[in-house]
Amino acid sequence: MQTFRTTGAIIPSGAALASELARYVAQRNDPASSLSILEAGPGTGPVSRAIAARMRPGDAVDLVEANPVFVEHLTRLVKSDPVFQPIADRVTIHPTLVTELGTDRQFDVIISGLPFANFTADEVRTIMEYYFSVLRPGGYVSFFSYLYLKQVTAVVSPLDDYLRRVRSGWEVREWVNRYAVDQVHVYRNIPPACVFHLRKPL
Ligand SMILES: C[S@@+](CC[C@H](N)C(=O)[O-])C[C@H]1O[C@@H](n2cnc3c(N)ncnc32)[C@H](O)[C@@H]1O
Repeated sequence: MQTFRTTGAIIPSGAALASELARYVAQRNDPASSLSILEAGPGTGPVSRAIAARMRPGDAVDLVEANPVFVEHLTRLVKSDPVFQPIADRVTIHPTLVTELGTDRQFDVIISGLPFANFTADEVRTIMEYYFSVLRPGGYVSFFSYLYLKQVTAVVSPLDDYLRRVRSGWEVREWVNRYAVDQVHVYRNIPPACVFHLRKPL
């Protein structure tokens, strides 16, 4: 159960969801610029592959994964998957919690796979504050939540678990209200998801 709480996914993200999450690796304000990219919670790497496929010369990505089993899997994937081959020397895997990564580096794009619905409101706030502290002005944070999850958990979860999810959802909503520049429903995913794109003001 602890593993599910921190993994928070039934199956890895599909191609359509991964592609939407990697939107700001593909679309950049200055086409000549290179990007510093952070992916939090890559899991088995479906979104990392989408990021890698959209990276250009000079871009670098940091993958931060707390689960050692997924870290081992990602290490093998980066060495063996042809999508990673052209950029393998610009991928760094960090086996840690994302908030332990430190604040000495700044990122242009942060893509978060963390299961906010499984966290407390305080945990969501700590992670969002961290993202915005290491994000460059004008940079983007993209993350997703599953659609209809609240309705399902209202029926099947114990009351305290349901209430925790409602509170963490309110915290996520505050950040979305403050910084969202777009939100997109991705129905071609199991389960269907909503991707939020937030931008730090210049
Ligand atoms: C919902 S899965 C997403 C996996 C993948 N990005 C995808 O979309 O299929 C969440 C991942 O975040 C990792 N995780 C959870 N909390 C974390 C944290 N605080 N720091 C880094 N990774 C974390 C889990 O181990 C898991 O691999």
